[in-house]
Amino acid sequence: MLNDKLLEALNEQMNFEFYSAHTYMAMAAYCSAEGIDGFANFFLVQAEEERFHAMKFYNFINTLGERAVISGFEEPNNEFHSILDVFEKALTQEKVVTKRIYHLSDLAWDVREHATINFLKWFIEEQVEEEDMFDSIIQKLKRIDNDSNAFFMMDNEFAKRTFTPGE
Ligand code: FEO
Repeated sequence: MLNDKLLEALNEQMNFEFYSAHTYMAMAAYCSAEGIDGFANFFLVQAEEERFHAMKFYNFINTLGERAVISGFEEPNNEFHSILDVFEKALTQEKVVTKRIYHLSDLAWDVREHATINFLKWFIEEQVEEEDMFDSIIQKLKRIDNDSNAFFMMDNEFAKRTFTPGE
């Protein structure tokens, strides 16, 4: 039997990962409306990744013989001023996720729940990669500034992104 507080926190994180998918869908929709379909694809794939993360929590909770409880969530932000703004908001979102995963890990350590500690290691590594990815794109967008050729090359590159579970 899992510690109640830890179970609640695992459920909350599962729902937050679904919410993250929703957040990235809003970003994809903004990009589609702006006619930058490669960037839209990038965020559609990111939303898939977040659903994959949520399902990892769902499956883990079930594996422990507990019940995953699906909740609603607040409306994601749909207001963006530019593609740079989109990526800056994406990085902010990932930093929130990182803090939440660390908090969850602290909680698992507090109650010596080693299966959960081990489960969360994947997420700790994943967050390092996700923050790095968004940070690199922000730096690139700042560097290319008003170079429309470089911008459309980036859009073409993002059009090729596909969802690979585990990445
Ligand atoms: Fe599931 Fe992008 O953190």
